[in-house]
Amino acid sequence: MNTIVAEFAATPFNTAAPLWQPGEDDTFECVQVRDETHDVKTFVFKAVPARQFRYLPGQFITLELEIDGEITNRCYTLSSTPTRPDCVSITVKRVPGGKVSNWLHDNLKPGSRVSVLGPAGEFSFALYPQRPYLFLSGGSGITPLMSMSRALTDLAQPTDIVFVHSSRSPSDIIFRHEVVLLARQHPGFRQVQVCQGTAGEPEWSGLTGYLDRAALERSVPDFKERTVFCCGPGPYMAGVRKLLEESGFDMAHYHEESFNFGELTAAAGVEPAPACEHVSCESAGFKVRFSRTGDEITVAAGQTVLAAAQASGLRLPASCSQGLCGTCKSKLVEGQVDMQHSGGIRKREIDQGMFLPCCSKPLSDLVIDR
Ligand SMILES: Cc1cc2nc3c(=O)[nH]c(=O)nc-3n(C[C@H](O)[C@H](O)[C@H](O)COP(=O)(O)OP(=O)(O)OC[C@H]3O[C@@H](n4cnc5c(N)ncnc54)[C@H](O)[C@@H]3O)c2cc1C
Ligand code: FES
Repeated sequence: MNTIVAEFAATPFNTAAPLWQPGEDDTFECVQVRDETHDVKTFVFKAVPARQFRYLPGQFITLELEIDGEITNRCYTLSSTPTRPDCVSITVKRVPGGKVSNWLHDNLKPGSRVSVLGPAGEFSFALYPQRPYLFLSGGSGITPLMSMSRALTDLAQPTDIVFVHSSRSPSDIIFRHEVVLLARQHPGFRQVQVCQGTAGEPEWSGLTGYLDRAALERSVPDFKERTVFCCGPGPYMAGVRKLLEESGFDMAHYHEESFNFGELTAAAGVEPAPACEHVSCESAGFKVRFSRTGDEITVAAGQTVLAAAQASGLRLPASCSQGLCGTCKSKLVEGQVDMQHSGGIRKREIDQGMFLPCCSKPLSDLVIDR
């Protein structure tokens, strides 16, 4: 474990409060709601019972919410910093028509309690502590970079960070005043704001338009010497990747986080799981029955339950497909599986017969409560 990871793994404050143990403590109480912009709010939580939070800056949690009688999971980055360990926060942008983001904005108030899974994720400077940093974010993709900026500046170690954030307009800039303050207070922290348009702010002093190669070379001349952390909408990140590749940037020093797990998997070049037609389902498969819908599928040897269901045209809830987020969690009524999860399910849930179809291969015929 490198020293920076160790610093966050062992909380820097020495208090009697016990530490947050992912997988055990799962109830957060909202203690504050802040308006960040016209369509972005920050929700601050404490743990119930009270304890201190420990995580890497840039990691995310999964909220499990009951909305209209249905359990719904969504991932949100912790925008807070582990250097202030008594509370955590998430910062959520309303997605037009979106189920959970709008529910949170309209319903989550101080005193509300939510069930939480996590933290998870490896998008953190703490895992790549060697070089000066270039943080690139677009829109609500600012949250992990803000967590990292808060953490690095709180530790008051010598840092060299350039933070380039892109927004639609000045009124859409999330954490605008705080980022300016960080730059004023910390000599090793510089910020650049890019806005597509400047409607409503004629005296805008940042960059206007899109982040392109010329703008990057002008505002961060030494960008090729930096480790890049990038988060934002899919087209923004595709543009950044192209720009960096074309300018000869060594992509070994590029790290990105997508708020869409599908994009993340595609960008990482992960092969989709084989569909049933390409493997011998007849000879090696196990039968899987969904008890509520009556649907029945065959899962081929080596195939996950989720991959087989999707290949058969069934729609199961899923997000990360990597056993991380808990979205696909289901009750296994009969049978046995080999589940290789990455923290998306708690031990007590497994003991209660729950499993994650996205990372489970049948060891026998199965019946699933769906
Ligand atoms: C690792 C991770 C971290 C995340 N961190 C944050 C965060 O810090 N802040 C934050 O606001 N969100 C974050 N998200 C996104 C969040 O999980 C939800 O996807 C988002 O709030 C929309 O959920 P919803 O239920 O409102 O919309 P849904 O009901 O799921 O979707 C409604 C429609 O919007 C589209 N859509 C879904 N998500 C987005 C999106 N992000 N942008 C544009 N269109 C979308 C869908 O394709 C669909 O058409 C994160 C996602 C991941 C995977
Ligand atoms: S889809 Fe994320 S754990 Fe299964």
